[in-house]
Amino acid sequence: MTDATWPSWLPPRYEHTASLLQRAAWPGPIFARATGLWGAVQRRPSAASFVVQERLRGASALKSWERRLVAAFAWSMLRHHRMLQALTGSDDPVVLWRQWLVWQGLPLAEVAAEHPGLLVGADDAAAAGHARLADLPAVEALALAFSLPADLARRLHDSLGAEAWGALDAMQARRPQVLRVFGDRTRVEAELGEQVAAHPDVPTALIVQGRTDVHRWPAWKEGRVEIQDAGSQRMVQACGARPGERWLDLCAGGGGKTMGLAHAVGPGGAVVAHDIRSERLVGLARRMARLGVAERVRTEPDAGGLEGPFDGVLVDAPCTGTGTFGRDATLRMRWDPARLHSLVQTQRTLLQQAARMVRPGGVLVYGTCSLLADENERQAAWFEEQGEGFERLDQARLLPHRDHTDGFFWTVWRRLPAP
Ligand SMILES: C[S@@+](CC[C@H](N)C(=O)[O-])C[C@H]1O[C@@H](n2cnc3c(N)ncnc32)[C@H](O)[C@@H]1O
Repeated sequence: MTDATWPSWLPPRYEHTASLLQRAAWPGPIFARATGLWGAVQRRPSAASFVVQERLRGASALKSWERRLVAAFAWSMLRHHRMLQALTGSDDPVVLWRQWLVWQGLPLAEVAAEHPGLLVGADDAAAAGHARLADLPAVEALALAFSLPADLARRLHDSLGAEAWGALDAMQARRPQVLRVFGDRTRVEAELGEQVAAHPDVPTALIVQGRTDVHRWPAWKEGRVEIQDAGSQRMVQACGARPGERWLDLCAGGGGKTMGLAHAVGPGGAVVAHDIRSERLVGLARRMARLGVAERVRTEPDAGGLEGPFDGVLVDAPCTGTGTFGRDATLRMRWDPARLHSLVQTQRTLLQQAARMVRPGGVLVYGTCSLLADENERQAAWFEEQGEGFERLDQARLLPHRDHTDGFFWTVWRRLPAP
């Protein structure tokens, strides 16, 4: 089977030597690590990423390529465990591990006798998976294909309809690293050559080709590029900040949006960066210095010290991050409806806080990296129902399979002039 016919809802296949796969299939250090790991993740889903990393770091008996094999299994399990369980009909970690090894190239005959009738050969896996998915209602098919909790699958389906499948499909593969270029993109592209490719839709974005440490590049050290998904770049564009303006970045975090706003307002403008986690603002200040915009950015850790009105306020709200499944495979393990409920309340509070600080005629932007209507369209509609005196200028949703970005949402309003 070629990989063109290997669907995203089956674990990706890598190059492994036959001898490694054979050793891994039978009791020994690789086998013990791999089969123990999934149980550990399930016991602590809220710390899934930490558990995987700790267990692999502690695997000193394994050679680096053996550790890589176990790591690949662990990350596959986060995205594919429900399909592995469905096709084998088993929850036994030994069965799941050997099934995964078979799809990585271990001959089925080597282990089939240990698990009569449970394992599916690589040549039959796609057809078997299609057969399992075909008869399911759409929400259950989503949950099975992408290993989602039922509540999350339902919300994604309610939010995106038929687009949910495409968006999740695109986020199964690891998303590429994207750079934000400050200045002339063509020049930076020429300098970096085949290491990057221009983003088709976002004029400031370059897509990094393959895996590399961009922090070593002169362009990064000299503050001419920064790592930022193209969707974030588009959200900053949508703010429409202009030279000379004064903006507030109310949830500035590490400063991803602050840097774009600082460039947009230019040397005569200013950006105030606030975040409830004041420690994040320390890193933000260092980042702005490297990018040469420190004098335009003031960090303000105290919410009481935010002095409006501003020409524009951005609320890059804390959210479930369901648009970033392509970057964090552990998010679906950590899904918690109670957390969504609490985020929705926080988002509303932030929107109202932000609205009070926009000058008449100024701009309010609310954005998330979520795909859920609960955090997006419904929040925008809720805000409009409050009658705060804003008119909507723009609303957009970015979907990974359509826009070549992580999933994003934003709404832009203008504050009506005082009567
Ligand atoms: C989506 S992240 C921001 C990412 C950032 N704007 C960037 O582009 O790098 C949301 C941020 O909101 C912050 N936050 C959460 N509750 C907040 C609150 N009540 N007031 C201000 N910031 C808050 C979080 O600490 C987090 O850094």
